[in-house]
Amino acid sequence: MAPPTSPTGPSTDPSTCPAAAARIEVVDLTASYHGRPAVAGVNLKIEPRQVTALIGPSGSGKSTLLRCMNSMHLTVPGAGVTGSVLLDDVDIYTAKISPVEIRQRVGMVFQRPTPFPTMSIRDNVLAGLHLGRRLGRGSHDDLVEQALVRAGLWHEVKDRLKAPGGRLSGGQQQRLCIARALAVEPEILLMDEPCSALDPSATLTVEDLIKEIKQTYTVVIVTHNLQQAARVADTTAFLTVPAAGEPGRLVEVGPTERIFSTPRQQATEDYITGKAG
Ligand SMILES: Nc1ncnc2c1ncn2[C@@H]1O[C@H](COP(=O)(O)OP(=O)(O)OP(=O)(O)O)[C@@H](O)[C@H]1O
Ligand SMILES: [Mg+2]
Repeated sequence: MAPPTSPTGPSTDPSTCPAAAARIEVVDLTASYHGRPAVAGVNLKIEPRQVTALIGPSGSGKSTLLRCMNSMHLTVPGAGVTGSVLLDDVDIYTAKISPVEIRQRVGMVFQRPTPFPTMSIRDNVLAGLHLGRRLGRGSHDDLVEQALVRAGLWHEVKDRLKAPGGRLSGGQQQRLCIARALAVEPEILLMDEPCSALDPSATLTVEDLIKEIKQTYTVVIVTHNLQQAARVADTTAFLTVPAAGEPGRLVEVGPTERIFSTPRQQATEDYITGKAG
């Protein structure tokens, strides 16, 4: 793993320094379920310290592609993958990297907030640490604070860290899940429709947070909300199903502004103007 850095320069204290952002390159990737391709022939570069949005109609393979980026796809029964996902030039499917290390380096936040409801806020933040980070006992409090600060939740919960995670609002729970993901110091954060269960105000809070964390992390977000993609993403990739029964395909990828203002493919234009999908 690359050495940790911070905006103010390298730090020697592992409890205070975020991990370096990493690059992902997807090469000729096909992901299938029970031998049937769900998304095929994908080539995509995910740049560090950028937000990349995956957009496209339901069933086009956005979640499948996202899960391929940290090998979680292979935890689904019957799932298969061909092609490569290079994490800083190392293929996660052929190199001898354990799934635990991959998921520590490439964290994930899901559509519905998934805190452990009866576990305390503090323990929720620490819940991912068995993935590999080892810290001295005294560092746990610092780590909890830092992760909650980075997730924009600290001021709302600092006086009730022992309260159950399930007592927070939906938007707070989602930020708690983001804090839990950040606490293991990933290099990349994958987010699958992280705001779809949130109200507009909580959505904007999480979007602000995404813009903030991209200073340090590489972020890939799946969203059905095109305004959200336009607001938060530097790069946008459009996927679609070309014909019924076919696997999803990556149609076009580029700077978000260009994709929304002058898409090069008709299918992209039809989708973003609401004519299709
Ligand atoms: N666990 C699974 N078993 C079998 N097929 C699956 C499984 N998960 C997804 N698929 C299929 O893979 C294809 C892509 O699904 P995926 O969930 O990746 O699409 P998506 O673009 O994320 O859709 P949505 O926008 O509805 O979340 C679909 O045809 C879907 O039916
Ligand atoms: Mg999905």
